[in-house]
Amino acid sequence: MTKHSSLPRGVAVVGAGMCKFGAFPEKSSRDLFVEAYQDMIKSIDKGFDPEIIETIYTGNYSSDLFEGQGHTAPLIVDAIGLAPRPAVRVEDACASGGAALRQGIIAVASGMFDAVLVGGYEKMTNLPTSQVTDALGTAADTLFENPAGFTFPGFYAAIATAYMQKYGMTPQHLMKVALKNHENGALNPKAQFNMTIPDWMKGRVEAAIKKGKPAPSWQTVWDFLQDDAANPMIAWPLRLFDCSPVTDGAAAVLLVPAERAHEFTDAPVYVIGTGQASDVALHSRTDLTTLNAAKIAAHTAYEMAGVTPDDIRIAEVHDCFTIAEIVASEDLGFFAPGDGYRMADEGVTSRLGPKPINTSGGLKAKGHPVGASGVAQIIELWKQMRGEAGDRQVPGDVPLALTENVGATGTTCVVNIFERR
Ligand code: COA
Repeated sequence: MTKHSSLPRGVAVVGAGMCKFGAFPEKSSRDLFVEAYQDMIKSIDKGFDPEIIETIYTGNYSSDLFEGQGHTAPLIVDAIGLAPRPAVRVEDACASGGAALRQGIIAVASGMFDAVLVGGYEKMTNLPTSQVTDALGTAADTLFENPAGFTFPGFYAAIATAYMQKYGMTPQHLMKVALKNHENGALNPKAQFNMTIPDWMKGRVEAAIKKGKPAPSWQTVWDFLQDDAANPMIAWPLRLFDCSPVTDGAAAVLLVPAERAHEFTDAPVYVIGTGQASDVALHSRTDLTTLNAAKIAAHTAYEMAGVTPDDIRIAEVHDCFTIAEIVASEDLGFFAPGDGYRMADEGVTSRLGPKPINTSGGLKAKGHPVGASGVAQIIELWKQMRGEAGDRQVPGDVPLALTENVGATGTTCVVNIFERR
């Protein structure tokens, strides 16, 4: 049974950093983590001595399959010069980062540790897409889901199809999520896809002209997004621009007890709620249009924080596919079931709307190095809550924000809630 209570001791994030996300053939996940760690150190306003770090939790889905390297936690610790600190690798598929953060929160909240480094990293682009698909596929239920012929785009396509059938959503509604997240990603220098979809179209036209080929005749973004050559079908109704990409990346945060936060910064971000839940695999569910684990994790986190979905100013949610963002916006209680796609369509979730979602560009545009994503979500909240998000800063204060990080088809979900007092 889930225990609903407040954290036994307050926890604060006092540093947060990430490397640039993308494809880096020359770098290992260790190199990426070192960059994220250094970026995190730079963010600690009053400076700090790395020697105070007592223990490390790292989210990583499968360095074994992607890099042929298991047991990466101690290697990461060596790379940042922190051996012999204890280090644990946390694996919960694409929720590995969020789950590692939760372990770090528990470690500080319990009173056991006073300075905990939480990281996430994944180096995926060593493999061709077909092998990445196989590696990711091991996060699904290999006894039931995979033998039925599913890949991850296929799973989320099934969720999208069920949602369309139940609520009348169309593929164009999904594209609105992609348009929004690429717009946000264009304002995020660390994003893998640092451009809007219109920028992308312009680049394709220019490339065709340069090669002496006929320029594509798209008049609008809709022409581009519905062109099978420009935006190929991956698993109906999901096209290329409905999918998160294959990404290399890492992120890191430093957690300390709330009462010590001001030793590091005058603008800490407090963790006030955390929830995690598990669910049966997709084949055993009665309703594909909702993730039960997300609803339970969110409920636990809201109860612990003593806040409601309406109190949350911004959220970074797990948009591994565009449909996942719509379903998350309902499971987190922001919108009623069946309203999520309409809210995205009406701009409610855009950066300047009343409920901004994925101002970083989300997994869709920022990129999805699976084990890093749950930690990277916090980097965006850290910046937005401290007013440091530059061109993509949302208007007004951001007192409360939330992350939702999903593993596989929602068999794991982690929700964390943050406060800036
Ligand atoms: N969105 C938009 N464009 C993308 C993209 C994406 N997700 N993935 C790749 N591209 C672009 C590339 O930049 C490249 O553009 P260019 O020709 O202008 O340089 C082009 O598409 C081809 O890239 P490539 O890497 O060859 O694509 P691919 O066909 O091998 O892979 C997917 C595309 C969608 C199949 C792959 O990104 C994928 O599997 N994504 C899902 C990952 C996943 O399941 N994660 C876990 C979720 S639970």
